[in-house]
Amino acid sequence: MTSMQEWPEPIVRVQSLAESGLPVIPERYVKPPSERPKLDLIVDHGVNIPIIDLSGLEGDDDQLRKTTLNQISVACRDWGFFQVVNHGVKPELMHEAREAWRQFFHLPVEEKQVYANSPKTYEGYGSRLGVEKGAILDWCDYFFLHYRPESLKDYNKWPAFPVSFRNIIEEYNSELVKLSGRLMKILSVNLGLGEEHLQNAFGGENVGACMRVNFYPKCPQPDLALGLSSHSDPGGMTLLLPDHSVSGLQVRRGDKWVTVQPAPDAFIVNIGDQIQVLSNAIYKSIEHRVIVNSAKERISIAFFYNPKSDLLLEPASELVTPDQPALYLPMTFNEYRLYIRTRGPQGKSQVESLKSPR
Ligand code: OGA
Ligand code: NI
Repeated sequence: MTSMQEWPEPIVRVQSLAESGLPVIPERYVKPPSERPKLDLIVDHGVNIPIIDLSGLEGDDDQLRKTTLNQISVACRDWGFFQVVNHGVKPELMHEAREAWRQFFHLPVEEKQVYANSPKTYEGYGSRLGVEKGAILDWCDYFFLHYRPESLKDYNKWPAFPVSFRNIIEEYNSELVKLSGRLMKILSVNLGLGEEHLQNAFGGENVGACMRVNFYPKCPQPDLALGLSSHSDPGGMTLLLPDHSVSGLQVRRGDKWVTVQPAPDAFIVNIGDQIQVLSNAIYKSIEHRVIVNSAKERISIAFFYNPKSDLLLEPASELVTPDQPALYLPMTFNEYRLYIRTRGPQGKSQVESLKSPR
């Protein structure tokens, strides 16, 4: 395996390329024709991922509660992606978090360099995923930080600007841990498992949580590049706060790509590879990618809710039957995420590689 100590090539910030006003993108960002986004073919057929109102789970209307649980169940099985509204996180906090990150990314590149990351932990300011020399890169700068377990949380590695940044991000992440916990219970019950099953399989109190904030600068040739190549999320579950003013996320649906239209103040929830494994593929992590835009930059905050990194994960025994034997071999999340950290985003090849030989 390639050494994970340092990047194989000098890092170029996509923000710098965008600000240089180049009319064409460097060759390193040009995707092979089969992966290009075919922007001229994107027509809005009114298709969107399901939007689910979580307020239906509160109160004492049992029928509404059942209907809502069922909507989530169908979305998890059929799409692997859905949006939630009335989820309990205050819209003001969502807005503050996004604007704090926007201010950070608008700082001059030099001021962000102190946070430059390395492939050892990925924590900090980064501009590539994967360490393969000569790889085609994505049109994106990002910031990655740990929130849980507490032992990995290090405020010194978080941006110090804008002034109230750390307080806002602390509050935002703590709300997202709560919302993730609620969703884990719902998914567990919907799978016919005990309410705490998934959370316990993730390590209970010791779950992992981290955030990756993506900044996609304007791109002069958006038809040749991607902001983020096709991948499935390696962890448990992702809660994404998209940019409210520009779309960009596309979700695979058969052989088509559906462009997500963000609902106001919604989070986009998606199933990651570890829940695919635990559910024995009743729920699937779905491939997604990000397209870029020549007129507008875009920012998104991905919050990843992950299993404790050294636990072995395998399909829940309740979901393994003679008709549906265990599809995956046990593996820890630490071992699992090395794949994407080494090779970069590679569609769904990773979870496929975990299939047990039959
Ligand atoms: C991710 C991701 C989508 C987006 O960070 O894993 O899929 O819209 N982000 O930025
Ligand atoms: Ni993703």
